[in-house]
Amino acid sequence: MSNFRQLKPVDNFYQNNLFYPMPTVIISTLCEDGMTTCGSYSLVFPYYIAGKDNYAMLLECRNSSNTAQNILRNGKCALNFIKDDRKYFKEAVRLGFPGKTPSEKMKDCNFELIKGQAEGDRPLILKDAYQVIECTWNEELEDGYKSKEHIGELEGVEPPYNNFNGITSKFGCHFILTIDDILMEEKYADELKNGLKVGSFPPVPVDYGYHDSKNFWYKKFKGFLPTSEAIANSNANSVESVMYCAERLETNVKFTKEACEMYVKIPRPFMKAALLQIAQIAEENDISVIDKEAALKIAEIRKAKK
Ligand SMILES: Cc1cc2nc3c(=O)[nH]c(=O)nc-3n(C[C@H](O)[C@H](O)[C@H](O)COP(=O)(O)O)c2cc1C
Repeated sequence: MSNFRQLKPVDNFYQNNLFYPMPTVIISTLCEDGMTTCGSYSLVFPYYIAGKDNYAMLLECRNSSNTAQNILRNGKCALNFIKDDRKYFKEAVRLGFPGKTPSEKMKDCNFELIKGQAEGDRPLILKDAYQVIECTWNEELEDGYKSKEHIGELEGVEPPYNNFNGITSKFGCHFILTIDDILMEEKYADELKNGLKVGSFPPVPVDYGYHDSKNFWYKKFKGFLPTSEAIANSNANSVESVMYCAERLETNVKFTKEACEMYVKIPRPFMKAALLQIAQIAEENDISVIDKEAALKIAEIRKAKK
């Protein structure tokens, strides 16, 4: 006998049928009159993470929300990740209450707003966020821009609907948001650069959505400190296995043993693709033999490309 009970998924299954840990994000958008307004969101996830010509996030929201209406209108938003602090979470819950106009919500807003760094007319960002992603809606995907015809229809949109970008149901909307830049609080940017330790992580609240109509549940960061678990076989590649892979690539570029030593930590499933990319950069830069010096130069080029 297993210890599971089978549940039938219902609307909003992520909070009604699951304990689903999510980030707490305040999304700032630009209203028609140029004012910045803020709404609370958790269904915000990385979407294009590699192998495309841009990086993107996915947002799932109510199509009548101020946030959705503003994104449909001008495409710009900032995803502000808040730190774990009772006063911030209280404000997130207040900003998450539906049916308020931007001016009603923003007149008492506790978050301090400042200018972001991406170009063009943009919403302000939260000064106290630990990270902010400035984004532009990719309205081309699935002809998402056609959803603009429904701006102002706040009582439910009639079909047809898109599948994944724009208005996707009577009350729902999905946005694929191209990442214009990532703003990271200085001290956490340093931690990312210098290698992570237990104390490197920003204190983040983890929320579980509305499990009843009275309370919005979340977990505080205190007592919930990050810890690490060594990745099995993370050092499994011997220099010989890297050389074996390098020698069998479809390229004329050669790798020296010294260079291969620099690649032993690349996880095995990604080894071939990584070496091919390295060889391709070498070809583009007229390098026929990748020795340690060339490997360092290529590493710089790869870093700049990212
Ligand atoms: C922490 C938190 C997370 C939320 N996440 C979402 C979400 O991911 N998608 C959504 O449609 N509504 C979400 N809500 C509800 C919205 O915040 C709510 O619809 C609100 O009215 C949106 O504000 P806006 O109309 O100013 O955009 C969340 C509420 C809270 C408090």
